[in-house]
Amino acid sequence: MQNMDWGKLPFGYFKTDYNVRCYYRDGKWGEVEVSSSEYINIHMAATSLHYGQEAFEGMKAYRGKDGKIRLFRWQENAKRMRKSADGILMARVPDELFFEMVSKAVKLNERFVPPFGHGAALYIRPLLIGTGVQVGVSPAKEYMFMVFVGPVGPYFKEGFNPVSMQIISDFDRAAPLGTGHIKVGGNYAGSLFAMERAKAEGYASVIFLEAKEKKYIDEAGPANFFAIKDNTYITPKSNSILPSITNMSLMTLAEDLGLKVDRRQVAVEELDAFEEAGACGTAAIISPIGKITIRETGKVYEFAKDGKAGPVSTKLFKKLQGIQYGEEPDTHGWVTILD
Ligand code: PLP
Ligand code: COI
Repeated sequence: MQNMDWGKLPFGYFKTDYNVRCYYRDGKWGEVEVSSSEYINIHMAATSLHYGQEAFEGMKAYRGKDGKIRLFRWQENAKRMRKSADGILMARVPDELFFEMVSKAVKLNERFVPPFGHGAALYIRPLLIGTGVQVGVSPAKEYMFMVFVGPVGPYFKEGFNPVSMQIISDFDRAAPLGTGHIKVGGNYAGSLFAMERAKAEGYASVIFLEAKEKKYIDEAGPANFFAIKDNTYITPKSNSILPSITNMSLMTLAEDLGLKVDRRQVAVEELDAFEEAGACGTAAIISPIGKITIRETGKVYEFAKDGKAGPVSTKLFKKLQGIQYGEEPDTHGWVTILD
């Protein structure tokens, strides 16, 4: 790809050459198909359209200094997609099929994998939808699994610079025993109003609270929350947040760096004592949080007082990206090189 300003890529849709698709019919998955169409043909009574039988994943392919393309912990994405499928009664995508289609979609679009050194990557979006017809509320008998890709920069345009976020308590992202822990479209539909309002009020994202007691932090819109205090990496434990693969990795890397890890309920009042705060996810990578405002009271908590990310977040960011781009040894066996 010539004439691309890789360092300025937004996080968004980007047309590439191909996507791959596979159909589940009569109780089994068929052949993998390659398509150059950006459209899918779907029955008007498909369950994905009416009853939200839809789950997706978010992954990235990273091009290293050595030119090689790396996937990061794809097995965890395959596993999470299986949990999402189980959670809303869709057909499971076997790991081998998941990997075959992800690697095929990346390789067929290799020219769109950003070169090393711009903080950009090829975003991979696996999507599983109910295509079978139902008008009564019940699961479909037919499904489509597809994978499309596109080059992206960090989710928050500030990149690795502190953003402001807003804690709200007049909307919940997910119910305590609902679907917050799986990656289904309905969770995102439910978050749109609050997210757009926050953006209009000048914030990068909402931070949702745990819905039952409204005392504890759940997660940011598209990312998990973490904080640093007394050489400890603190992150919320809750049934209604998405188990982030980035967060899971940061917990391990924090331990490698000699920090303690504390995964537990995190009360809003604790924000006062945190030295650093951040949001983490595949799309967000680590987004340092400079300021958190409680919408209802106007109370403000500040973290990045000099306008920069804190030292621990910076170390974690470098370590994580170092592994993803192949600059650091892959001591945990997280990386798969596509050849
Ligand atoms: N939380 C939500 C709601 C998300 O959509 C995502 C993105 O997938 C994350 C957290 C981060 O998860 P991961 O690190 O696996 O990308
Ligand atoms: C990701 O981090 O990969 C996501 O899927 C987040 C968001 C774009 C929904």
